[in-house]
Amino acid sequence: MKKYKSIRIWLFLISILFISLKINAQESNIIFEEDFNQSYLIGWHVENEDDDDVPDWNVDSGYLIQYSNIGDSYQRGTNMIKNDLIFDNFTLRAKFNSTDDDYSGVVFRYTNSDNYYKFVLSSQRSLIQLQKRVNGTMTILDSYTATEWPFVGFNVTITAYGDSIKVYLNDSLYLEATDNSFASGLFGFMTCYNEGNFFDWVRVYDNFEIPEVSDEIAITRGPYLQSLTDSSVAILWGSNKIASGLLEIGVDTSSFQSFEENYSRSSHTLKATDLVEETKYYYRVKSEDVYSKWETFTTFAKDPSAYNFIVYGDTRTNFLRHSEVVENFEDHDFDFIIHTGDPVQRGPRNDWNVEFFDPIQKYIKSKPLYIAIGNHELNAQNFYDYFEFPNSEHENYYSFTLGNSFFVFIDNNRARYTDDSRFPSIKPGSPQYIWIEEQLSSTEAAEADWVFVFSHIPIYLNKGFDTYPDCRDYLLPLFEEYNIDFSFVGHVHGYERGFRNNINYILTGGGGGTGPVKDDGYIDPGYPQTEYPLREIYNFSKVEMNRNEVTISAYDIYGEKIDEKVVVPTSIKNNKNIVFSDELFNAYPNPFNPTTEISYSISKPSNVSLKVFDVLGQSIATLVDEQKESGKYSVTFNANNLPSGIYFYSIQLDSYNSVKKMLLLK
Ligand SMILES: [Fe+2]
Repeated sequence: MKKYKSIRIWLFLISILFISLKINAQESNIIFEEDFNQSYLIGWHVENEDDDDVPDWNVDSGYLIQYSNIGDSYQRGTNMIKNDLIFDNFTLRAKFNSTDDDYSGVVFRYTNSDNYYKFVLSSQRSLIQLQKRVNGTMTILDSYTATEWPFVGFNVTITAYGDSIKVYLNDSLYLEATDNSFASGLFGFMTCYNEGNFFDWVRVYDNFEIPEVSDEIAITRGPYLQSLTDSSVAILWGSNKIASGLLEIGVDTSSFQSFEENYSRSSHTLKATDLVEETKYYYRVKSEDVYSKWETFTTFAKDPSAYNFIVYGDTRTNFLRHSEVVENFEDHDFDFIIHTGDPVQRGPRNDWNVEFFDPIQKYIKSKPLYIAIGNHELNAQNFYDYFEFPNSEHENYYSFTLGNSFFVFIDNNRARYTDDSRFPSIKPGSPQYIWIEEQLSSTEAAEADWVFVFSHIPIYLNKGFDTYPDCRDYLLPLFEEYNIDFSFVGHVHGYERGFRNNINYILTGGGGGTGPVKDDGYIDPGYPQTEYPLREIYNFSKVEMNRNEVTISAYDIYGEKIDEKVVVPTSIKNNKNIVFSDELFNAYPNPFNPTTEISYSISKPSNVSLKVFDVLGQSIATLVDEQKESGKYSVTFNANNLPSGIYFYSIQLDSYNSVKKMLLLK
């Protein structure tokens, strides 16, 4: 108690000082403050409860963070206790950023690990509770069920005066109880199974007036660009509540067109059309009477001969590392950004700002963003509300053409997760498989010099070819049959590049990831098709397309180039513009004497047997009998020593056959 008194006296003097400095009245009531801006902590210690796991508390970039998955079924886990200050009557305010959806909270009036009050929240479990633990027995004092706690970042305010305890979230009252089990004690932060708690700051006041919650409309997300072409763009933004939406867009800020939404909502999308190619536009959005700032973008050329884009993914949970990775984008010229999925840890939670939009906003307000949907989106409606991709029926798989390249985005999360309510099938015969095959065999794909496919789950990992059997068995054969050029993926938090049957496979899933990624160095360097073995590092990739040459490169979180490959079209690629069908053509000339030419085409490598028969079905000649590549072929038939009459010529391929008639007239 001696220590406590001296601290109280000291804090009293500090508060006198604050008053004398005429700091505002509220702040003068602060009796303890910690913003975690020092890399060390004084007077804090870790207490773990009945778990063998090792907690992982760190101070990093102004946050107190707990990264480990430590926890137990009693919702305990690990506490970081401020162990040199005892408070009795107080208001405690803290800023949370819990990117993981498991338990996190505050313990207070804490005596030991068996005696304390606790506020705890888990968005995954729709749980918000005020609990007490008396001699090891837990009792729920008050609880609130939220279908989906919408926030990653939020303020917690706990007031404890006498036997009255209240918990406010974002300054709204959620929990209250009257209880006199504990009159004073320590306080601390708690986590349980939560690998992404970022405690920003904590302040304790002897008296505090909870601010009024503002009911003003605010633009809370964006505005940002999507599906930009040479003549159109989609502009998206979010408002804090349901509101009207208006887009103003023009070549300068004094003459513009306006587009208005038909009904009020909180996720806004407006499309501007009839734009002019390669033109700089200004735009701003408005919800009710609140405007965003003017932003700019430039439309694409109709047929750009060169362009660059950045590919990265797996930015969920650790927004600090995500911010550091994207900081490097400044050093590069690029026209758009592609994300390989898992932008946030929990898709159904409305707050995608902390992990995703805040770090990337400065780029996507002027460059379009495309995403290959990941598993952590959980196919939530938010994905469809927050993005506008070029397929109105299924934005989780879509395609578009830019210049000489064809881009295909697929949803292959089913290859890793069996949940068929969230992840569409990729099996042959499924709607998505049929769609993918239609895309890869389309005229757009055939006419493109380069075909890029993006997915979240790796199609083919050098580290383990059998890791995702559905990708290996269903998608890989399609990619090889239709000669795609690049498969970019995420999901695994690292970088790797492989090459197989003329297809480049790039894993670039190191956009921030969860927890600290260790660079374990090269894993499995012996695999023959590995061109860059897996490294578990933060990274992003860049693609530079210059008509006949594509350069793919990769960079680490410090912006250092770690890999580069220049890809030029192969001879197979040069033939690729022509798609061949399986067909036996009419002989020419017909009737003939004594020679005629028989042509045929085949769509894919096949055994070919081309024979001539007479009217009795007797084989007269075998013109072709060998394995051939896809293409169009012809062969001359000479009937010099045959009598006039009707003859048949027939072709037999692996999966096609046809018979036609010809007349020899001597
Ligand atoms: Fe994933």
